[in-house]
Amino acid sequence: MGLEPFTAEDPVFVDEDVLRDSHKPEDLIERDRELAEYQAALKPVIKGARPRNIFLYGQTGVGKTVATQMIMDRLRQDQENYDDLDVHVIHVVCKNLNSSYQVAVKLVNEFRGPNNKIPTTGYPPDTVYEFLWEHLKEIDATHAIFVLDEVDAIGNDDDILYELPRANDNGNVPVDETKVGVIGISNKFTFRDNLSARVKDSLCDEEIHFPPYDANQLRNILYQRAEKAFVDDTLSDDVIPLAAAMAGQESGSARQALKLLFKAGDLARGAGDEEVTEEHVRQAEPKVKESQVRNELESLPTQSHLTLYALLALDRQDDLPAKSSDVFEVYEVAANRIDADVKTDRTIRDRLSQLKLKGFLDVEEHNEGPKGGSYYLYEFGDIRPDMVQEVLQDVDRLDELFQKDITSY
Ligand SMILES: Nc1ncnc2c1ncn2[C@@H]1O[C@H](COP(=O)(O)OP(=O)(O)OP(=O)(O)O)[C@@H](O)[C@H]1O
Ligand SMILES: [Mg+2]
Repeated sequence: MGLEPFTAEDPVFVDEDVLRDSHKPEDLIERDRELAEYQAALKPVIKGARPRNIFLYGQTGVGKTVATQMIMDRLRQDQENYDDLDVHVIHVVCKNLNSSYQVAVKLVNEFRGPNNKIPTTGYPPDTVYEFLWEHLKEIDATHAIFVLDEVDAIGNDDDILYELPRANDNGNVPVDETKVGVIGISNKFTFRDNLSARVKDSLCDEEIHFPPYDANQLRNILYQRAEKAFVDDTLSDDVIPLAAAMAGQESGSARQALKLLFKAGDLARGAGDEEVTEEHVRQAEPKVKESQVRNELESLPTQSHLTLYALLALDRQDDLPAKSSDVFEVYEVAANRIDADVKTDRTIRDRLSQLKLKGFLDVEEHNEGPKGGSYYLYEFGDIRPDMVQEVLQDVDRLDELFQKDITSY
């Protein structure tokens, strides 16, 4: 048999893109309180006053980014009604930017044309900040609002979260020329707690929390999107309530709920079924979960990848569960092999605990009796070693490690 013809016929979806992350819903339901707080915090801008700095936090998939985009669109639109206002919004996603320096470079480059970008290394930090202040003076706006989305990527190196909110106070950007405000967005609760005191003081004028959605809220969100995504009457009645209940119980994430619904439809379509049923949602669940875990593993920093690699090597040699000192030994060889910084065994213990917190590892405490003390043994938690290997093999930085026999440690 040859190829089937490509046809636009689709018995399930009218527009599956409506269920994707990139789709902007027309309005944000179930977020009235948060949107009101958010708008109130930005209201001074329209009156020409200094913006308040805002720290927005809440778990993944709860609408932080989409709410921010909507509010900024609205602010840009409404300021048009005021002749004496000129508000610039600079929105950057800090994912993969591991330091304040990298964020500062990215911000500078937001103001520059394609042929004029500065490189991500080389300039002293003060010079990069100078560039930024110069650009702000050049645009000559009344307000500049910096949105730093997924800002937790910078970790403890939070200098930029001091410099930017203080740009007016420190005289780097005269307040009577441009009023500078910062909106920091994070899905890590620990990030705020670990900010240095001076940053907390300057960044957190206003804190807005986006709580997880419950199953009822997710249901409403899904109904709204499904109406445009699916062919009429293809969804059986229990599909949305089930997807909403699953996502509500597990994460409260609208993103996860939308993915479940999409995957259920996709499975029905693939099977040639005319109705999407509860059964499709149940089949979709482990698939969605696995792809989330993969994404999470992929986006870990190099040191965590190396730690996972060490565990994988031990697993392949049947040496799991293992003590952190054994993990460290393999880690050290591997880190040297790819010319990465070799951290201390204490750092690697911290990495191991972080991986445990994310559910990737299981830990068991062992007691050696009253004199022997106790130690921990680590092994993979709810993830398959094969999947860990598949993910790590695709990480460019680790290429060299997979050219050698992984059982040779
Ligand atoms: N109240 C809502 N109504 C409609 N769609 C929503 C709502 N909340 C979230 N979504 C949708 O869920 C998805 C995830 O939302 P968003 O990207 O804003 O999450 P987030 O809080 O920024 O997550 P992360 O911390 O992972 O960046 C998007 O597709 C968004 O359109
Ligand atoms: Mg986001």
